[in-house]
Amino acid sequence: MEQARRPETMARITTPALAQAFIDEQLAALRAQIGDRKVLLALSGGVDSSVVAALLIRAVGRQLVCVHVNHGLLRKGEPEQVIEVFRNQMDANLIYVDAVDRFLDALAGVAEPEAKRKIIGKLFIDVFAEEAKKLDGISFLAQGTIYPDILESGPVKSHHNVGGLPAELNFELVEPVKFLYKDEVRVVGKALGLPDGMVYRQPFPGPGLGVRCVGAITRDRLEAVRESDAILREEFRLNGLEGKVWQYFTVVPDFRSTGITDGLRTYEWPVVIRAVNTVDAVTAEVAELDFGLMAHIVDRITHEVKGVNRVLWDLTPKPTGTIEWE
Ligand code: XMP
Repeated sequence: MEQARRPETMARITTPALAQAFIDEQLAALRAQIGDRKVLLALSGGVDSSVVAALLIRAVGRQLVCVHVNHGLLRKGEPEQVIEVFRNQMDANLIYVDAVDRFLDALAGVAEPEAKRKIIGKLFIDVFAEEAKKLDGISFLAQGTIYPDILESGPVKSHHNVGGLPAELNFELVEPVKFLYKDEVRVVGKALGLPDGMVYRQPFPGPGLGVRCVGAITRDRLEAVRESDAILREEFRLNGLEGKVWQYFTVVPDFRSTGITDGLRTYEWPVVIRAVNTVDAVTAEVAELDFGLMAHIVDRITHEVKGVNRVLWDLTPKPTGTIEWE
C-alpha cells in the first residue's frame, strides 16, 4: 500500500537549496520507478502539472508524453506558452490537441453552471483518453496531485472531481509532488527553471473561462471574457499588483444594457471585475484598489473589447458571493 501521508520528518521546502535537494531525490526515485518505460501526462500549463512535467522531462526526457488539450476556455496566450516552454525550450514530447470546436459545440445552449462543469470535465477526460488510446506502450500516468488535494475534500475540491478514470487511462500513477503544499510546488518550479508567469500564476478553475462566461457560452462573449481578462492581468502586472492580490479576473454576464459611443446608441454586454484576497478560498474579501487605476482599466476595456459598453466592479465578499460567478 502506498504511503498516503507526508512523512513527519520532511522539512518544509522554502529555499532554492531545499528545492534542489527535493529535485535530486525525486529524479532518482522517478528513474528507479519508470526505468525505460513511458509516462503520460495531461499538461494544462497550471503550476502543478507544469512542475510535474519539468521534473519528468529531467528524469526521463522524451519517455514522457505530454498531452495539452486546448478546450478553448484557457486564458489569452496560455496554449502558446505551453508550446513555447515545453516543446521549444525543454524539448518535451508534447502532443497539442485543438479541441476548441468540440468543447464549444458540446457547451452550446447549456446554461446551468454544474451542467457546464460536467460537460467540460467529461469531455476533457474523453479527449485525453482518445489521445492515450492512440499511443503505444504507455505504462504510467503522471498527475499533478498536491498534498491539499489528498487532505481536503471540502467545497473547493468537490467541484474539481469529474469521476473516475476510464479503462484507457488505467495506468500506474506517478505523483512526484503529492506531499507538497502549493508554496513548495512554486519553489520547486522556480528551481526547475520554469518562467515566473507559470510558477506564480494565480489560481485558475479547471473549467477555465467557461465559468466566467455566465450562462450559455457563446464565442463572442467568451472572447470578451478572454480579452478583458488579458487587459486586467496586464494592468495588474504593470501596477505591481501581481502576486499581491490573490485572484483577479473578469466575468461577462449574459445580459446587455444601453450605451453610447461616438454619438451612436449601443446595446452591449457589461464586463464585471472581480479581485479578491483570501487565505484558503473558503472566505474571501474584496481587494481595495486604487480608483484611478480602476478608471483606467474601465477605459481600456470599454475601448478595446468588442461588444462591451460598461464595466462593473463586484464588491461582494465571500460569503455571500462565491469567488467565481458560477
Ligand atoms: P468559489 O467560486 O467556490 O471558488 O468561491 C473558490 C476557489 O476555487 C476555484 N474554483 C475552481 N477550481 N475547478 C477548479 O479547479 C472548479 O470548478 C472551480 N470552481 C471554483 C476558484 O477559482 C477559487 O479560487
